[in-house]
Amino acid sequence: MFRHWKGLLAAGLAALVGGTACWARFGETSRLVLRREEVALPAAARPFTIALFSDTHLGRYGDARSLRRVAALIGDQQPDLVVFAGDFFDAYRRDQELLDLDELAAILAEIEAPFGKYAVWGNHDRGGGAHRVYGELMERGGFTLLQNQAVALPDLGLVLGGLDDALLGRPDFSLSLEGEGLRVLVAHEPGPAAEQVPGAHLILSGHTHGGQLGLPLVRDLLLPPGSGSYAKGSYPLGEERSLQVTSGVGVTKVPARLFDPPEVVLLQIVPGQKSPS
Ligand SMILES: [Fe+2]
Repeated sequence: MFRHWKGLLAAGLAALVGGTACWARFGETSRLVLRREEVALPAAARPFTIALFSDTHLGRYGDARSLRRVAALIGDQQPDLVVFAGDFFDAYRRDQELLDLDELAAILAEIEAPFGKYAVWGNHDRGGGAHRVYGELMERGGFTLLQNQAVALPDLGLVLGGLDDALLGRPDFSLSLEGEGLRVLVAHEPGPAAEQVPGAHLILSGHTHGGQLGLPLVRDLLLPPGSGSYAKGSYPLGEERSLQVTSGVGVTKVPARLFDPPEVVLLQIVPGQKSPS
């Protein structure tokens, strides 16, 4: 009798593990969710929206179809500003035969934002042979690549800066964001940016993939170097600053996601403190 129950239990566990693995490989990775965040910042002069996406990791496990879905989801939101936080490719040299750069540039170009589209370098754009094509591709897609540069967007009352990648590039953490109003910084890796750029009111990052396998208790162990103590979501940095980390769209290394669906983040920036809920 005991042996019978033991067998049933083992079969049940095997089915659970197999089903979870199957979902992580094929189910979760094929989702795309819109995560909305309201971010109240005293330095904001007016309300506006930012569509933040990151870590598409196109190549072996992500193709033009997944980028097209992202572009369509962003288009539905009609954001004021679009920001891409890096890691467009996964391993470009390895996967270049699978990628049609003309097609990808055309999809990027379809994304519309009245106040502009901006991008930064990720470590997978700096490494793996992607540095030869990434900058030109983003510019063909209508994105301004911010490599230790800042631009003023007076109509939104902000200065927007972007850092080079912290792991494989040469980030200038002393980048000046001086100007009237809100100071926004885009940096692929959240850890160094949050620690080393205290002047930014709002930092937008990716890189972490939310651990990719967002298993309770072990997720933080799966975060890549450069993540700091940030996995995914909204992190207040004192009373007047905020860090927003997206877990991104694609996968790397392990072609699976769990408790961590691919996402686009729609940030609703509002002036002042967030009212208690
Ligand atoms: Fe990434």
